[in-house]
Amino acid sequence: MREDRSFPPSAAFAAQANATGQLYEDAQADPKRFWSDQAARLDWQTPFTEIVDWTDAPFAKWFVGGRLNVAYNCVDRHVESGHGDQVALIFEGEPGDRRDITYAQLQREVSQAANALTELGVVAGDRVAIYMPMIPEAVVAMLACARIGAPHSVVFAGFAAHALESRINDAQASVVITADGQHRRGSVMPLKPAVDEAVAKCPSVKSVLVVRRAGNDVAFDAERDVWWDDIVTRQPDIHTPESFDAEHPLFILYTSGTTGNPKGILHTCGGYLTQTSYTHNVVFDLKPDTDVYWCTADIGWITGHSYIVYGPLANRVTQVIYEGTPDTPTQDRWWDIIERHKVTILYTAPTAIRTFMKWGDHLPAGKDLTSLRLLGSVGEPINPEAWMWYRDVIGGGTCPIVDTWWQTETGAIMIAPLPGVTACKPGSAMGALPGIGAAVVDDHGTQLGNGHGGYLVLTQPWPSMLRGIWGDPQRYVDTYWSRWSHLYFAGDGAKLDDDGAIWLMGRVDDVMNISGHRISTTEVESALVAHPMIAEAAVVGANDDTTGQAIVAFVILRAGAEDGDGLAQALRAHVAHEIGPIAKPRQILVVPELPKTRSGKIMRRLLRDVAENRAMGDATTLADPTVMNLIASGLAHATPED
Ligand code: PRX
Repeated sequence: MREDRSFPPSAAFAAQANATGQLYEDAQADPKRFWSDQAARLDWQTPFTEIVDWTDAPFAKWFVGGRLNVAYNCVDRHVESGHGDQVALIFEGEPGDRRDITYAQLQREVSQAANALTELGVVAGDRVAIYMPMIPEAVVAMLACARIGAPHSVVFAGFAAHALESRINDAQASVVITADGQHRRGSVMPLKPAVDEAVAKCPSVKSVLVVRRAGNDVAFDAERDVWWDDIVTRQPDIHTPESFDAEHPLFILYTSGTTGNPKGILHTCGGYLTQTSYTHNVVFDLKPDTDVYWCTADIGWITGHSYIVYGPLANRVTQVIYEGTPDTPTQDRWWDIIERHKVTILYTAPTAIRTFMKWGDHLPAGKDLTSLRLLGSVGEPINPEAWMWYRDVIGGGTCPIVDTWWQTETGAIMIAPLPGVTACKPGSAMGALPGIGAAVVDDHGTQLGNGHGGYLVLTQPWPSMLRGIWGDPQRYVDTYWSRWSHLYFAGDGAKLDDDGAIWLMGRVDDVMNISGHRISTTEVESALVAHPMIAEAAVVGANDDTTGQAIVAFVILRAGAEDGDGLAQALRAHVAHEIGPIAKPRQILVVPELPKTRSGKIMRRLLRDVAENRAMGDATTLADPTVMNLIASGLAHATPED
């Protein structure tokens, strides 16, 4: 790791930047006042009376007594301020279809969808599951839920029926919003069949609202299913937004933890919208009248929630939404989109950047990318080589890069440089944003100084913090606040360099990060052992040049099962069916035994050594030290990557 390079902001960028160094001073001098000033970015129907109530820590209340409507803040107020004709969404479908949606249109569509949900019996507090492609109706659906105070639970459309079912059941959703299918890599990928399979086991679901997107045939249950075109389009296009308490639930988003069951991370209205709006303004430097912003995330992940829907729309963004994959029809699709729409701000993930590096510089070089003025990165540590390539090849050597560290749980960006203020080091997320407290601590929770590595913690509550885990307050306390009192344990390792810049070092728990997506080892292990041929499974995340980490599974076959040619393929397909294609192991190794401690815990560290072709570390705590030799000898027959 080279820590000596540093790129100070250009004078030209600094002169026009939204952020100034003063922000750090203001936040330091009076943190409550600072957050109250940030909350003033929003329109409150009833002003708050207290900024934060931390008396019941770790259960926080922000902007106590305040009432607002999130959808009104993201849409209606922009129409009222005279920007109804501004394009909010520039939609580009994978087949090449386009649609511009203005704020006035968005207001009408969100109102109609809110009226339709009301007709379906949804009232404030009811949960609505959303399982949709990257199309404008997904954004409309989320905002319609927010508008009527019905917390949404968006489930990534790449998840399989089983994963969808468990999320719907955990939240007890009464309505599912989906589409017939989506366009992926040049063909139609149906979505409705997964919903049908899931909902058959979800008694809470009364209605399924279906957007017609891909035109594929779908089974239709006349009692339960209703077309978006039938019910939404016939609604009145006005709807009076009601205000909700700042702490009213806005959404649940499931994310992987260290055990098999995904956690329903709960976010609420006032603090979440305040911090997403604030960070989107200062980190991405958005100028609503001139910028064209593009965040390439999917709405199924927190980045899509916070930096496509809520933060940007609260800030009156004009943004691109793209449905498909980066290589359809050709590998320069993204650069083509940037050229045609004159995108000025691009926010994407290191895994995508590394993929583009592999595909070759000639692709971006063939398009005019000079409209870009700021680049962002999220989801995993960005290696310095990828950072430099991003800066030079995509950003023309001039765009500031903001490497943003945060989590589903934090709701909004926590650690990032401020463009125009911070001198950036390639590969470092630099420091905590104004108003945020982050530190690196050792095993005892003692704060470490510069030049030391340990665990990343957050030292004070923040407005967009998760308010809990849906239905399981104890798990919230245990997972995040029990390791050291008064410190939020993020699950990441980090190092402070000699200048105090923060370098993220990856997860320290059993959570893997595959292309910026969180998947727990136990989730994949449970899927594998559910296959009739598998007796035991252990899964590790091994370093991968493109995806950051890749899943490597070690499996023990049941008696009588054969390690034949098709086994790895069958198991990969099985995992894709149980969880989704993103959880498919890159490699599956059949082994005679797994390395376990005397207490039965699998020693993943040793398996990672094997998966990464390293000399094996200390194996003396194994119950049976000969196991690793057995595994090593078994690897001669290992199934190679397919
Ligand atoms: O390990 C960190 C990594 O992603 C985890 C959070 O994953 P998720 O909740 O899915 O949210 C991803 C998008 C915010 C973190 O615990 N991570 C996220 N951003 C970065 C990162 N690691 C290093 N650098 C980042 N910029």
